[in-house]
Amino acid sequence: MITLKNVTKEYDKGNTGLTNVSLDVEKGEFVFIVGKSGSGKTTLMKLLQKELEPTSGQIIVNGQNYKELKRKELPKLRRQMGMVFQDFRLLKDRTIFENVAFAQKVVEAPNRYIKRQVENMLDMVGLKDRMKAFSNELSGGEQQRVAIARALVNHPVLLLADEPTGNLDPVTAREIMELLSEINKKGTTVLVVTHNRELVNEMGKRVIQIEDGQIQQDEARGFYDI
Ligand SMILES: Nc1ncnc2c1ncn2[C@@H]1O[C@H](COP(=O)(O)OP(=O)(O)OP(=O)(O)O)[C@@H](O)[C@H]1O
Ligand SMILES: [Mg+2]
Repeated sequence: MITLKNVTKEYDKGNTGLTNVSLDVEKGEFVFIVGKSGSGKTTLMKLLQKELEPTSGQIIVNGQNYKELKRKELPKLRRQMGMVFQDFRLLKDRTIFENVAFAQKVVEAPNRYIKRQVENMLDMVGLKDRMKAFSNELSGGEQQRVAIARALVNHPVLLLADEPTGNLDPVTAREIMELLSEINKKGTTVLVVTHNRELVNEMGKRVIQIEDGQIQQDEARGFYDI
């Protein structure tokens, strides 16, 4: 699903995001990305979304070599991945339904299809009965579930989550992580950046630790031992 070959990202002013990172993630894996603040985790996520270009090295996602990808192919690439962020990023003046439907409207699906898909996704995250509410009427955990529904509505092959539980209490964080794990069990490849030591240690998933822009450790059933 993901191959990085000797990827380096240098920002302006000589700041280094990643240095010579090579990495393989198979289809269907669930991977935690851990590391201290400033170690390069978000840089990695942004490179995978093709929001940033690497300074050098190769990135291949779902068989697409980013170097060979034309600008007009970018929307198609982005539809293959869902993104979830720490701060949810919902549209405040839209209902829950509209927030999830928005991602489908962008791909110009027919209305009837959109309605069914959005309802299915909201059902999956347990919020179908709240679909007429506005995002500011929801708790943080509920907002994150909407964001997950939105990320999945186009059936991406890859879900990228950058600190999805960073703003949530421990109980809600656990629910969100369990939801991500269920989504993974249905076949979606999932990458989760997190500082949540307890959940990483409990879940027994692959853990990649990044330090100073480099992979420090990569273990199949890893621990958060920073
Ligand atoms: N737009 C940018 N311009 C210059 N330097 C940047 C930029 N974005 C990130 N950096 C630098 O790159 C390094 C890695 O940043 P990154 O955001 O990837 O860290 P992170 O692991 O996600 O940290 P955190 O856990 O705090 O979110 C840091 O030293 C940061 O200062
Ligand atoms: Mg970050």
